Amino acid sequence: MKDFKNKNGFITGAASGIGRSFALALAKRGMNLYITDINIDGLEKVKLELEKRGVKVFTGKCDVSKYDDFEKVANDFYEKMGEVDLLINNAGISIGMDMLNIDLEVWQKVIDTNLSSIIHSIKAFLPRMVKRGSGHIVNIASGAGILGIAEPIPYIASKFGVVGLSETFFARLKNLGINVSVIVPAWVKTNILVIDADKIQYPPKLLKDFGKEKLDTAYTTLMDTIAEGAISPDDAVEKYIEGIEKNQLYVFDADFYLELLKVKGEDPKQYENFLVEGLVNRGKKFREHFHNLGINIEDYM
Ligand SMILES: NC(=O)c1ccc[n+]([C@@H]2O[C@H](COP(=O)([O-])OP(=O)(O)OC[C@H]3O[C@@H](n4cnc5c(N)ncnc54)[C@H](O)[C@@H]3O)[C@@H](O)[C@H]2O)c1
Repeated sequence: MKDFKNKNGFITGAASGIGRSFALALAKRGMNLYITDINIDGLEKVKLELEKRGVKVFTGKCDVSKYDDFEKVANDFYEKMGEVDLLINNAGISIGMDMLNIDLEVWQKVIDTNLSSIIHSIKAFLPRMVKRGSGHIVNIASGAGILGIAEPIPYIASKFGVVGLSETFFARLKNLGINVSVIVPAWVKTNILVIDADKIQYPPKLLKDFGKEKLDTAYTTLMDTIAEGAISPDDAVEKYIEGIEKNQLYVFDADFYLELLKVKGEDPKQYENFLVEGLVNRGKKFREHFHNLGINIEDYM
């Protein structure tokens, strides 16, 4: 897709982060937008920012994990805007604890939000796109959708699913005039990386030894250490739009994924080592972060 001016875009999860930056960048290019989220206040703020760029903007509440919500906003979209040129399936969450203690409800919530959402979107929008024989579908996956080293584990399962669906839709839709891209972000500075101190249940002994204030600081700055080199969502989205303009299936914002995929194909043993070492290194960074603040975290794990 090369020209965005006066075309129609639909975005999920547009109230913050990558979704918001996509909306702003596309509005700058003259695209009219229908933006959705569960965070209505956030969405209305983004709408005001977009309108300053002189494009048509509509908002709709859509919990992507629910098909009924999708059907409702899709019908509203058709009524107000006509056909969809760019469909961006962006909304996502990253939750889940350590491997042995993930509740089934958490698995379900992550799969429904990150993966079933794409199925809902496709069901609501694809028939009319196929009939018209045009449009571009963009699914936001993750590095956690091509390499099995990140955590939480339900997030990895959902994002591998997003990548698989994107490949198969790319193959099935290419000859019907519809393009598909899958975005593979590495680390982007958005709310998904923000740890909410109020939701952390500290182990009682850890809390007693260090106090809530110190622990809140330690946990809320943890991602700054782990996600070193994270880029801004505005910069990330400029790279993603370049990939969309070239109709690329895979759109990366970090070269190291390409190198690792090469290793995966050419040297399976090295790749296996990388998977294990990658996890160990993340654990090392996690422990170092706490040590630097005077907390011997392994005594409390
Ligand atoms: N930020 C990163 O480093 C990173 C890395 C890899 C992949 N991603 C992916 O990028 C996408 C966007 O995330 P972000 O980084 O901008 O995070 P974010 O938290 O800033 O934005 C996510 C948005 O999705 C919305 N949302 C959450 N659950 C929803 C639901 N059920 N229905 C509708 N909207 C919902 C939130 O309200 C929020 O506005 C996600 O799919 C995420 O997995 C992000």
